[in-house]
Amino acid sequence: MQFQKKNILDMESLSVDEISMILDTADRMKEISQRPVKKVPTLRGKTVVLFFYEPSTRTRTSFDIAAKRLSADSLSISASTSSMVKGETLIDTARNLEAMNPDVIVIRHPSAGAPHMLARTVSPSIINAGDGMHAHPTQSLLDLMTVRENKGEVKGLRVAIIGDISHSRVARSNCIGFTKMGAEVILAGPQTMIPKGIETLGVSFTLNMEDAIYDSDVIMMLRIQKERQKSFLFPSEREYAKVYGLTRKRLESTKDDVLIMHPGPINRGVEIAPDVADGPYSIILNQVTNGVAVRMALLYLVAGGTRNADTD
Ligand code: CP
Repeated sequence: MQFQKKNILDMESLSVDEISMILDTADRMKEISQRPVKKVPTLRGKTVVLFFYEPSTRTRTSFDIAAKRLSADSLSISASTSSMVKGETLIDTARNLEAMNPDVIVIRHPSAGAPHMLARTVSPSIINAGDGMHAHPTQSLLDLMTVRENKGEVKGLRVAIIGDISHSRVARSNCIGFTKMGAEVILAGPQTMIPKGIETLGVSFTLNMEDAIYDSDVIMMLRIQKERQKSFLFPSEREYAKVYGLTRKRLESTKDDVLIMHPGPINRGVEIAPDVADGPYSIILNQVTNGVAVRMALLYLVAGGTRNADTD
């Protein structure tokens, strides 16, 4: 099968076969990162622009490392150091970048739909690195890769996603990605953090965290996104942690082989206790490692690498 997608915008627009192909490619890419010389010439001569309007540690760094491991040239632009501060629009900025002939633009933006607008406007491939509260497809893909790697397959698993669902592009992308790949997804959080109509994504929800976690194979904890909340949605962090925090005590009621995930950044002691985040069930840093592999796979697939990435 040839990968036909020019842009990676959201999980809705990827088919099961395309997701499987990305994950299979990422598995092969991961091996490159384990070699003494972690570099292949597959994307030599290609240019990747990392265009980040919001802060990022994991996504930006892993795209940068991914591009470099494939020998592409990569450069970063942030809102505060671009001419956006002088009033240049997103479209004008993108058109000016396009005039320099990059092959891929990776964009993170606070407005939902910004990557989709760029994909309609400029010619390079666009990869969505997170747009507002809408989508974070590359996070969902690395989460799928990490679960598949640990459990053998995603189909048939029960995945609990806990916390600030309303403000989470990760939750939305994972509801779509995990159900598409055959998992059952259950959400839990305060009523104020569960968006109306979420069941239309084929998931269920509960206000009771215990109901969500007791027979789940995967528990994915989410950060409370205070920066996106317009008003306080819970009385205090202490009370939130008491009702929705994942503690060692709560872990006692879960499956023996449960996997604990978190997209990061973590609020230690709020949604997850430090000893759980760093404990034996946690695969949080495996997610970060696999982020490089998934982003190598995506750059390779959309930038049309013609060489064999395994051996060249
Ligand atoms: N998971 C994630 O998107 O992390 P960053 O905000 O650090 O990129």
